[in-house]
Amino acid sequence: VSPAKKVQAKVMLVGAGPGAADLLTLRAYQALQAADIVLYDALVSDEILGLIPHKVRKISVGKRGHKRTISQDFTNALMVKLAKSGHLVVRLKGGDPSVFGRASEERAYLEAQGVAVEVVPGITTASAAAAQFGFSLTSRGIGRKVLFATGHTLAGRAENWVGQACEPDTTLCLYMAHHDMAAIGADLMAGGLGADTPALVMSGVSRTNTQMIQTHLGDLGAACAAIDTNDPIFIVIGAVCAQARPQEFIDELDLLAKFPPVEGRLAC
Ligand SMILES: C[S@@+](CC[C@H](N)C(=O)[O-])C[C@H]1O[C@@H](n2cnc3c(N)ncnc32)[C@H](O)[C@@H]1O
Repeated sequence: VSPAKKVQAKVMLVGAGPGAADLLTLRAYQALQAADIVLYDALVSDEILGLIPHKVRKISVGKRGHKRTISQDFTNALMVKLAKSGHLVVRLKGGDPSVFGRASEERAYLEAQGVAVEVVPGITTASAAAAQFGFSLTSRGIGRKVLFATGHTLAGRAENWVGQACEPDTTLCLYMAHHDMAAIGADLMAGGLGADTPALVMSGVSRTNTQMIQTHLGDLGAACAAIDTNDPIFIVIGAVCAQARPQEFIDELDLLAKFPPVEGRLAC
């Protein structure tokens, strides 16, 4: 490692977006090209990993939900060690690092260890889902506020946001919630939200095998239980969900036919 490279140890916390390569920001793409080492999460798609140059070392530090294979402490220590040995480390996370992505925890740890941090935002699942399925997260008169919430916390199911979610003009975006959806749905209905409130269950947003189920709050638990996929699952509840276009309509758009594969375009 050259002395010049040792001057400032640095880690970039980079958002990979929801999965489709052409939803990666140009800044994130450039970070991947400049990196020496990429530590990536389980939610980062193969399509995005395919954009990392072969010479760059890729290390999976993935955790999925409650399955903790690699501890956060290990990942933190690894980032510091690699950055302090002069490598430009990219910590690649699904979606946007600032939305349920532990960006603040990792930033605090790294800075306390004297490592500089740069965050590159990504497209969060909520934005990608709205675009793909034809609804808006806010909509005049029916969706006046948006609540991003997580279905589970370190202590188990999260309930502290339920009170704020029960107003009919709230668009509730639920990350990591499908396992607990029957119980969360019951809490929301007990809080006053109607069983007929429109809801969407979406898996693999922006990915090739994406699925979407249009349902209602009262049937949401059953819809989540029925969905059969290894892809991540995202749930939206609120009046705006009635705007969503059915899956068949989305399929007919055949977006892939309109746009050539991303690798070809980025290589131009
Ligand atoms: C740890 S959170 C990370 C969220 C991410 N930082 C973001 O901004 O989208 C993981 C959850 O995000 C949601 N998620 C992430 N990518 C998704 C995708 N492509 N399709 C559906 N849900 C997704 C799922 O609810 C998943 O359980």
